Amino acid sequence: MKEKLEQIKADVEGILKDAVDLDTLENIRIKYLGKKGELTSVLKGMGKLSKEERPKIGALANEIRSRLEAELDEKKSAISAKLEEAKLKAEVIDVTMPGRKQPEGKLHPLTKVLNEIKDIFIGMGFQIADGPEVEYDYYNFEALNIPKNHPSRDTQDTFYIEDNIVLRTQTSGMQVRVMEKTKPPIRIIAPGRVYRSDTVDATHSPVFHQIEGLVVDKNVTMADLKGTLEMFTKSLYGEDTRVRFRPHHFPFTEPSAEMDVSCFVCGGKGCSVCKGEGWIEVLGCGMVHPKVLANCDIDPEEYSGFAFGIGLERIAMGKYDIDDLRLFFENDLRFLDQF
Ligand code: FA5
Ligand code: MG
Repeated sequence: MKEKLEQIKADVEGILKDAVDLDTLENIRIKYLGKKGELTSVLKGMGKLSKEERPKIGALANEIRSRLEAELDEKKSAISAKLEEAKLKAEVIDVTMPGRKQPEGKLHPLTKVLNEIKDIFIGMGFQIADGPEVEYDYYNFEALNIPKNHPSRDTQDTFYIEDNIVLRTQTSGMQVRVMEKTKPPIRIIAPGRVYRSDTVDATHSPVFHQIEGLVVDKNVTMADLKGTLEMFTKSLYGEDTRVRFRPHHFPFTEPSAEMDVSCFVCGGKGCSVCKGEGWIEVLGCGMVHPKVLANCDIDPEEYSGFAFGIGLERIAMGKYDIDDLRLFFENDLRFLDQF
């Protein structure tokens, strides 16, 4: 029995010497020192020993067991340390290496101008409203005093989804949506995307943005409209900017006007961008038509209001001296990087 114990010790120590990984160690522990291991099975034969031999063998077995356990532990620490070192070496980071620069994102120029426009109107006490791009015919046309078959539907070539659902051609439907929900005094702007099957050129895109404005209160006049829009234009473009109002027609305002700014490319001399006019149309506006107020249950005898619809791309062209609005939609980073 003694020899068997010594043999186990020699075997374990032999294997331990060459072991290089933790799995081997665990296997040795189970095979020799575990509950069903060789050492245990040797001790099971102790019953056959004489009374004098039993304590001696017992003591020897215990001594061997704790020796081997100690050696296993020692080897385990040594292997762990080596593995750790190899791992650190593999993961070494050179903190002195120059960093890799991530490309920096920027706000789109249209977003930047829109943010400025919002700030200007918020400064004048306006709130911001939001509404759907897929719109009922009722809000886009009908409630705005543009019945079916009205000729002015032709001036805004419309993408129809269904008979009575369109991609909104203008943000003016927001006037109705807001007046249905809010009683005067009202002072809002509603920015958003609009769609028209317009022919594309330097100042026309089939998808563009408008910023609707609406003010309704007692005693609101055309002078308030002109003052507000002049103030807005000068805040955005600077005090020297020239604007002009031209009489116009919209079914939902009376009287109506369009506002032009002096051409930002040629300064008014006439060029290809302003088509020789010297002016560029940036918005439509007017006094809210009594029928539209009535459609929204607001008494036109008691209240009056003005509304306007700004073309965001046109405004942004002027702000950044851009001579073709298609650049806003091409997502060419060489262009976008400049803002
Ligand atoms: C309208 O859409 C009216 N809803 C504006 C309005 C609102 C009038 C409230 C009265 C009261 P108009 O179709 O003119 O009007 O368009 C308004 C502005 O949108 C134009 O002045 C122009 O700046 C811009 N715009 C129109 N069509 C395009 C287009 N295809 N691409 C880019 N901008 C456009
Ligand atoms: Mg127009």
